[in-house]
Amino acid sequence: MNASSELFFKWQFDEMKQVGKDYADVSEVKAFDAFHGQFRDIQKENEEIIKILPIQPHHSVIEFGTATGAFAICAAAFSRKVYAVDVSQAMLAYAREKAVLQGISNITFCHGGFLTYVHEDDPVDCIVSSLALHHLPDFWKGVALQRLYAMLKPEGRLFLYDVVYSEDDYEADISAWIASLEKRGGQKALEDVGMHVQEEYSTFTWIMESLLEKAGFMIDTVHYDKGVLAQYVCTKKTAQNNQAFNAVE
Ligand SMILES: C[S@@+](CC[C@H](N)C(=O)[O-])C[C@H]1O[C@@H](n2cnc3c(N)ncnc32)[C@H](O)[C@@H]1O
Repeated sequence: MNASSELFFKWQFDEMKQVGKDYADVSEVKAFDAFHGQFRDIQKENEEIIKILPIQPHHSVIEFGTATGAFAICAAAFSRKVYAVDVSQAMLAYAREKAVLQGISNITFCHGGFLTYVHEDDPVDCIVSSLALHHLPDFWKGVALQRLYAMLKPEGRLFLYDVVYSEDDYEADISAWIASLEKRGGQKALEDVGMHVQEEYSTFTWIMESLLEKAGFMIDTVHYDKGVLAQYVCTKKTAQNNQAFNAVE
């Protein structure tokens, strides 16, 4: 290691040391699908992502924060190649086993994260990330989005879904959200979501929009839900489509 790389490691955010929930515990990993299934229709969400982007049979896709592999496994049936990235070895081992049991061979599972995954193959057509970017503080979200931009082909598409707060009445929105999840998921949901708000790095909508645009993305559609959830579908802007964009303006 030379002097400059030593310096790099002194200030680089350690994304392997997760805040809030760290998904290192195997029992937590095994319970993940059932727990999230109490308040999400994960299969429907995944099919919608594939339709929205849209993911096509010749496409390559990277998913960041793949967890138990539900999206990666679904996307593998609609695309040529999926790279499923996660910082949790326990999550990756579980997801890999699920894919093998289903006879899926076009997913590469990669230990890494938004800040450390190095994409050595050709740039991809689509990048997808759900409920994972909030693990990084805002400065590092910006760094991550610039890295994702570089991994995409020109005109490539980004689907980003996460907990992002509306600035209008965040206290009322967060309280209502926690109450509704507690109703469906009980005490565990209450504790998990409480921990999310206290310790993890979900940010305001205006910050997230600005980070996406500063990284070079054109936000094609944005959907905010209950003041606490956000879905962004974006395109990688290049000098060429920038010109077209400015001409329309
Ligand atoms: C709440 S789970 C969401 C999983 C899945 N995408 C979904 O929608 O159900 C968050 C996942 O992001 C992973 N994660 C946390 N920090 C990360 C990082 N810096 N880069 C990539 N993945 C990360 C966690 O290990 C976990 O598997």
